[in-house]
Amino acid sequence: MAKVKTGVSPRLSRMLEELQEGVEDGLVPAWIFNDPELFELEKEKIFSRSWVYLAHESEIPKPGDYVLRYVLDNPYILVRGEDGVVRALLDMCRHRGMRVCRAELGNASHFRCPFHGWTYRNDGRLIGVPAEREAFGQDFNKEEWGLVPIPRLEAFDGMIFGNLDPEAPSLEEWLGEIRWYLELVTKRSPQGLEVLGPPQRWVVHTDWKLALETFLSDSYHTLMTHRSLIELGIAPKDAKYAMYGEQIHIPGKGHGSMVVGAPPGAKLPPFWGYPEEMLERARTSYPTREQFETARETRILLVTLFPNFSFHNPIRKPDHKYQGAVPMLTFRVWHPLGPGRIEIFSWALVEKDAPEWFKEKTRLSYLRFFGSSGTFEQDDTEIWSHVAHNAATPQGRHLRFNYRMGLKLEPDPNWPGPGVAYGLNFTDANMRNFHRRYLEMLLS
Ligand code: FES
Ligand SMILES: [Fe+2]
Repeated sequence: MAKVKTGVSPRLSRMLEELQEGVEDGLVPAWIFNDPELFELEKEKIFSRSWVYLAHESEIPKPGDYVLRYVLDNPYILVRGEDGVVRALLDMCRHRGMRVCRAELGNASHFRCPFHGWTYRNDGRLIGVPAEREAFGQDFNKEEWGLVPIPRLEAFDGMIFGNLDPEAPSLEEWLGEIRWYLELVTKRSPQGLEVLGPPQRWVVHTDWKLALETFLSDSYHTLMTHRSLIELGIAPKDAKYAMYGEQIHIPGKGHGSMVVGAPPGAKLPPFWGYPEEMLERARTSYPTREQFETARETRILLVTLFPNFSFHNPIRKPDHKYQGAVPMLTFRVWHPLGPGRIEIFSWALVEKDAPEWFKEKTRLSYLRFFGSSGTFEQDDTEIWSHVAHNAATPQGRHLRFNYRMGLKLEPDPNWPGPGVAYGLNFTDANMRNFHRRYLEMLLS
């Protein structure tokens, strides 16, 4: 790995060396979870060069549909033009920089700036300038003054990502082998996914890496953090349920997945509790037999993409009236706002061709467990905020966190999917892999 370079302050350089020395030994300094100078470096080296999740294409199905999304503090209008093409346009008027889009979502044929009235079509072209001739003369060329598109915009199975770096590798290369795990949800049915409404959003006083960690590798926390749900009979009876499964990471990429099956002796509902017709569709819609078999044996599935996207797909009981359990799927962006502060964007999704009654059940299950007021969500966010607080305290910031779980564990040679897999979920392997990639990007 590259040595810590000059260009960062001696203070930060010393601190990064500490992380570099510790990571293989499972020691991670607390200060990385709340430090203003490090946050500036993360903005420049990570978030300005990574593929960041923006939206699902089902959020903007019709021409003119738009949503506002953010990469760092850059606002982008993600809009489908009359030509059906999706673009991400910087919400900044080319005249004097005012925002031209004042709502978080809607449908518009054009965007008119409230400052001096420049008007742009929904493909970004400038089409109207008040008193154009008198103000700017004959040779003013509107074609040169359109809204600025994000440097890179690519999609994978309906998931739209943006990148601020024009030189970035393609999204496909960025994803690499994690694709196999993404497809476990994107290819479960031939029609793919759709969102169940706009994302819920809320601010948490924590670091994006702490939130992400829960979804990338920390199945260990369920024992204690969600203990009340076990006691209430909402989570599986065996408190160690999240331990039984495979933890997989993609070396060099920072991505990871957790694939959790049933605790020994527990009975799984056939194919996650999907209606029979959905099981039949899944049989043929997965690209490989291994993916279908893996999905069939799973009851909780998580995937995290470096740097700040996760999805979580457990099965849970949607309400007291329904006898069975249903799968619920949430997509997450851990959007960094500042040191020790994030905004969570959280969507519920479901297969487009699922029956309506089932869509409603899965929506209820999401709201109950992982929406902004969901029980699991509340348990998690309260805890994340205290960790970030302590990570910035004068004495606390000098401590090192223990990431040694599973340090001696050997990979599972029988796992059918790609990546490095461990047959036990109680390991910090995914997080150690994340930190390797994190350091590599910070130092390059
Ligand atoms: S800033 Fe938009 S028209 Fe002047
Ligand atoms: Fe949790």
